[in-house]
Amino acid sequence: MRIAIRPMVAKDKSAIMDILRAIREFTAQEVAVAEEVIDAYLEAPSASEYLVVVAEVGGVVTGYIGPTPLASGTWDIYWVAVNPGGQGRGVGRALMSFTENRIKEGHGRLVIVETSGRPDYDKTRRFYRSLGYRVAARIADFYSPGDDKLILEKRLT
Ligand SMILES: CC(C)(COP(=O)(O)OP(=O)(O)OC[C@H]1O[C@@H](n2cnc3c(N)ncnc32)[C@H](O)[C@@H]1OP(=O)(O)O)[C@@H](O)C(=O)NCCC(=O)NCCS
Repeated sequence: MRIAIRPMVAKDKSAIMDILRAIREFTAQEVAVAEEVIDAYLEAPSASEYLVVVAEVGGVVTGYIGPTPLASGTWDIYWVAVNPGGQGRGVGRALMSFTENRIKEGHGRLVIVETSGRPDYDKTRRFYRSLGYRVAARIADFYSPGDDKLILEKRLT
């Protein structure tokens, strides 16, 4: 299966919003924040501190990711989302590897991902582990009582 990864353009927005809304793990609030990031990026893609990329499989946009520079050589990866019907086929891996390569080209050395410790994020944590991310810190009860924040890291150099 051919997966084409490219920066997002304005016409991708409605497909991306559909994907974000279809993902059960994401709250309405998280989707609203993701939309703000997307809009900020679309306003001035080259001037933006964000990079939003999409994956196309058979012409359909199936996922997106948005990193931003934070400190010297450190990048945050915000949302990664693959539409529920397209998960488990390597699209998430392809999005992450495209993004990590872009970070490397920008002389990035450390990638940070924040995720939830909730049981419904088990699959997500396995995904990041398989890509070489390790848990650097856990903040108990961060998102809500019983919902910890995990800070994952991967060193690129
Ligand atoms: C997490 C997510 C982005 C992964 O994308 P994906 O396209 O489904 O994942 P891939 O098919 O690229 O899988 C890559 C690796 O992750 C692991 N993985 C993915 N899905 C898995 C599953 N259901 N069970 C176990 N491992 C899994 C595998 O080790 C896989 O390695 P392999 O390619 O050698 O088999 C996607 O499932 C998703 O959108 N989930 C909901 C939203 C979410 O949790 N986003 C992250 C918020 S922090």
